[in-house]
Amino acid sequence: MKYPKEYLEEIKARLKVSTVVSKTVNLKKRGKEYVGLSPFKTEKTPSFTVNDEKEFYHCFSTGEHGNIFDFIMKTQNLKFGEAVKTLANLASIRPYAFSKKDIEREENWLKYKSIYSRYVDYYHNELLKNPLSKSAKDYLKKRSLTIEEVKKFKIGFVKKNSNFIENLSKDFQENLLKECGLFYFDENKNKYFERFRDRIIFPINNISGNPIGLGGRILDGNNNLAKYINSPETPYFKKGSNLFNLDKARKLSNTIEDIYLVEGYMDVIGLSKAGIENSVANLGTSLTEKQILILNQFFKKIIICFDGDESGYKAALRAAESSIKELQPEKKISFLFLPNKEDPDSFVNKNGKNYFLNFSKENSIAIHQFIFNHYKNETDDSPSSLAIFEKKLKSIGNSIKDEYIKKYILEYFFEKISDLTPHLNNKFKNNYQKKIKSLKSTQKLFNETKSLSHIQIKEFSFLYIIINNLDLFSENKKIFENVKLFSKENKLIFEKLKNEINTNKENILIKDMGIDEQLLNRIDKFATIKHILKNIKEDPNKIFGLIEEIIRDLKNYELELRIEDLESKFSRDLSEKTFNELKELKKLQKIN
Ligand code: UTP
Ligand code: MN
Repeated sequence: MKYPKEYLEEIKARLKVSTVVSKTVNLKKRGKEYVGLSPFKTEKTPSFTVNDEKEFYHCFSTGEHGNIFDFIMKTQNLKFGEAVKTLANLASIRPYAFSKKDIEREENWLKYKSIYSRYVDYYHNELLKNPLSKSAKDYLKKRSLTIEEVKKFKIGFVKKNSNFIENLSKDFQENLLKECGLFYFDENKNKYFERFRDRIIFPINNISGNPIGLGGRILDGNNNLAKYINSPETPYFKKGSNLFNLDKARKLSNTIEDIYLVEGYMDVIGLSKAGIENSVANLGTSLTEKQILILNQFFKKIIICFDGDESGYKAALRAAESSIKELQPEKKISFLFLPNKEDPDSFVNKNGKNYFLNFSKENSIAIHQFIFNHYKNETDDSPSSLAIFEKKLKSIGNSIKDEYIKKYILEYFFEKISDLTPHLNNKFKNNYQKKIKSLKSTQKLFNETKSLSHIQIKEFSFLYIIINNLDLFSENKKIFENVKLFSKENKLIFEKLKNEINTNKENILIKDMGIDEQLLNRIDKFATIKHILKNIKEDPNKIFGLIEEIIRDLKNYELELRIEDLESKFSRDLSEKTFNELKELKKLQKIN
């Protein structure tokens, strides 16, 4: 439902940002602004500012920024429509009247929620209080669940002959009861039955904590039925857009940066019992990109931890290939593989919280590493299988939507692939070294790279491109205006190169410039760009494209440094001037 602009403006006009924010954040006035501790992060020095005049808030430690609607949506995790209602109420403005169809849908949604919550409450109570639920209680006990978990997750039990529809049909129309998926119609008996009969039920809540679907497990010993069934999709329950336990886990996102994504209801519950509350489960279907985006809204790092069996591994691979597309610069996705036959529930039950967390810290691997390792293991060392391998990695890398992440992951893949063809890449060295030797040298290279900063490596690539295209750049000197390097030797080399290019000589030769050979070798060795450059050797446009990209990265790095400086200055002086400078820089950073 779309609100007209004037209505939203009216709310904004009546509510100052500081009025809205100060309901939850303690604000102090500083000049024209207010400052306080960020509600998006635990912190000791205030980095959160509110500006009533400009109608926004800004958090310097997380980069969160927005107006009153954003603030309510983010801090209370509400949808836009709900935030508008809350704020309209606060501003004493009438709720907005929508069209008849909108209203009908809204009414049905309220009824749907009410059907589910009555259903969940009823069977939760039955499990706790009805003596006939003993088989279910025994089963849960056997799985070492306590009353605490049963209550926390509102677990229920639908007895065999129970039929709650009789109760509900007093208050709801038949078509709604049919639509909600809790019952199915038996044509022979001309009657509705419980879909989840004789099952333990786990409510699946939407992000605000209302139950909108169910998962149901058979008790042991009923082997010809599906172990789990879920509510079918309804107009209000879409599996690919929901996650079990998201409503509770997301509340931790102010203090915890990572979230475990597991396969099953029991995994979430088992982890919670052990004291690990930051986990969610996808609902027995493949992980969707939407689910990744939702998790990324709240958490910085997603740790995907599926069952330690073949199907868990396959699901993890599928999840990796689809979620890598959504990878964003400030977010991480990694994978944790459990020992054979364990799932998170059994593993944490056996070993406890600390062991699990340590195991996770030591064994989770980044998404691109997992993908590389997997496909590498699939190849035998024949040329054709290596070629297929390289193609596959390229196509996965190219599916990434964020341009920056795409570039670095492709570079990671190229780098690793080029390790497989050490002779091809080492054209400056003797081509016919023994294999064992080159393996040692790649290992050494790897160790050496670890001590270099990422910006140094970037600089090597930058210089490498220039050195190998001196004539090209001498006709296009302008491109180097305002480019700054950061490490001392690289700076000097860059100066020399620029001077030489500026002399307008033809046929400039690198060896005549008096640059230390060791330094040149270093550039040659660490310029990760060379594998890419090799493929576009003769195409000046592409070479320019490449160097422009690197220049943009270098400038961004410079910006980052300046922003860091200003941020620490701001946390000391909290002055408006610093704030405005910072804002300008952040704007620039976005444009770049
Ligand atoms: P698992 O078989 O690993 O179940 O399926 P589990 O969570 O470890 O359960 P327990 O420990 O045996 O009770 C993982 C998830 O896959 C979905 C469910 O969402 C389940 O939690 N699933 C599984 C189904 O939808 N249908 C099934 O028949 C089995
Ligand atoms: Mn399992």
